[in-house]
Amino acid sequence: MSKVLTGRKRSHYCGLLNKENAGQEVVLLGWVHIRRDLGGMIFFDLRDRFGIVQVVFNDQSGPEVFARAETVRPEFVVEVLGRVEIRPEGLINKNISSGEIEVAAVDLRILNKAKTPPFYIKDGIDTDESLRLKYRYLDLRRPEMQNNLILRHKVTMAIRNFLDQEDFLEIETPMLTKSTPEGARDYLVPSRVQPGAFFALPQSPQIFKQLLMVAGFDKYFQIVRCFRDEDLRADRQPEFTQLDMEMSFVEVEDVLNFAERMMSEVFRRVLGKSAPLPFPRLTYDEAMGRFGSDKPDLRFGLELVDIADVAAGCGFKVFAGTVESGGWVRGINAKACGKYSRKEIDELAAHAAIYGAKGLAWMIVEEGGEIRSPIAKFFSPEEISIIFQKMGAEPGDLLLFIAADWLTTAESLGHLRQEIARRENLIDPDELNFLWVTDFPLLEYDPEEERWVAMHHPFTSPKDEDLLILQSQPGQVRAKAYDMVLNGMELGGGSIRIHRREVQEQLFALLGFSPEEAYSKFGFLLDAFEYGTPPHGGIAFGIDRIVMLMARRESIRDVIAFPKTKNATDLMTQAPGEVAEKQLHELCIKLDLTQDE
Ligand code: AMO
Ligand code: AMP
Repeated sequence: MSKVLTGRKRSHYCGLLNKENAGQEVVLLGWVHIRRDLGGMIFFDLRDRFGIVQVVFNDQSGPEVFARAETVRPEFVVEVLGRVEIRPEGLINKNISSGEIEVAAVDLRILNKAKTPPFYIKDGIDTDESLRLKYRYLDLRRPEMQNNLILRHKVTMAIRNFLDQEDFLEIETPMLTKSTPEGARDYLVPSRVQPGAFFALPQSPQIFKQLLMVAGFDKYFQIVRCFRDEDLRADRQPEFTQLDMEMSFVEVEDVLNFAERMMSEVFRRVLGKSAPLPFPRLTYDEAMGRFGSDKPDLRFGLELVDIADVAAGCGFKVFAGTVESGGWVRGINAKACGKYSRKEIDELAAHAAIYGAKGLAWMIVEEGGEIRSPIAKFFSPEEISIIFQKMGAEPGDLLLFIAADWLTTAESLGHLRQEIARRENLIDPDELNFLWVTDFPLLEYDPEEERWVAMHHPFTSPKDEDLLILQSQPGQVRAKAYDMVLNGMELGGGSIRIHRREVQEQLFALLGFSPEEAYSKFGFLLDAFEYGTPPHGGIAFGIDRIVMLMARRESIRDVIAFPKTKNATDLMTQAPGEVAEKQLHELCIKLDLTQDE
């Protein structure tokens, strides 16, 4: 058998060569990106993780080497020995960093052959994502995917360096654990040693990080995998990575100030672009009322306007009735969209309907100031003029209104806002628009389960001034909870925690746990609260989402090396898969329920 490697060591990376290297002899190792055969001359674009360089084979390469170069195909792995030469003036390639030089080859070794890949190894392909995922190792060869993962590395390094400087400790917490409630289903792992018992994979390290505060570590962080069995979307994976943090002796202000300083610094270190401090803040009520979302995108306006006072007395029954029953009547002024056709307005109505709106009322302000609208007849001229004034209406504008219960009105107008911004190109993709949303409700009512559920998680502290109404008006209680939002996406969320046993027990009771249930699930935490627990709080960020936004991708799958599909499967390894009967037997598991049962 001949030796695979020649014993020559790589002297340079392809993508790092430039005219400073002219005249040097180099040894390159990489993949043949493209081969161009011009008869007496053969060109390779040779690729490694730093980029591409052109390699030339001609008379001077010698007949044997030239003949070998003729057999090479894209994605072969090769070793090239050659000399760096300046390219003639007209042949400079400005698109690549090594474009001013080329490497005149004197030796070539084929280290391995390659089949023709199922898609082009280049940027901007429109190949079906399932094919990319099946051959992920080839997809990851594409420069844009390499850059995404390099960016991800830079982000986690910047975070670790920053937090180390700030005296945070990175501490690992278990993956095989008990349920850590964050609102999703658990991934379960059966125990062989204790038949019938299961571990849950952590939805977050929430309880452990609180126990680390009890243990006195004071400032903790972890870049940690979390597992949630929930409906997947472009920004959600069943396993994803959090930057998880916790601090002792802090209040809401401390966490917000620290976290925004950190995030601004990480963006500066990685992208060279920091965000101005402090980040704007909106309470949950303001965010919902003005933007129809708890993660509003403030790169554009189109604020919601409350017209309940006019609606209450108007002749349009839908509006007046909604106000009377305690609902919201709000509108947005789609500036200069009076040009929209009926079809376009119907499309907007259909969009609002997805979020529960029963209709979409509209008014167009014509150039002369007169009004065109199916509901104009229900309003007096005075009422119209109040609406125009509230909404800043001018000729050419399209006013859109929804009347419904408060949440439906907020959500459907919130989504309409985004839809109009998209249609009208109102979003500057270069802008980094950070903000905080604070004072979330502590609880929300789940009509299906007929009980209160924690809006963030059950360990979140109520606001001090709302403690008194915890029993009497649980729905009105606000939490010491906050989310960081970037360009309309929730980047992170956290809270100040409950650190007293009585309060935590009260909360579990509100959530419908009997004392026995609460103790069996979270007794270890309740016990810990009795051994000197400091006040504490923290936050967790979605690393995948941060990198996705930095890389300007539409999906977090593009910044995860080996992601799962929307059905939570891995197309490459074909996981999840069946297991051998013997394994099930060892686990005392019998599969005898079909899906319908
Ligand atoms: P939360 O559930 O808000 O808080 O999660 C924190 C952040 O994690 C990211 N994230 C996800 N990213 C990708 N795929 C998912 N399925 C997914 N789910 C969440 C989001 C989110 O903002 N323990 C608390 C934090 C705390 O209170 O300190 C928690 O996990 O970016
Ligand atoms: P109708 O009288 O039902 O034909 O409705 C007249 C206009 O009001 C239509 O444009 C409907 O889309 C709109 N509309 C109906 N219900 C609502 C609602 N709940 N909120 C906003 N507009 C509505």
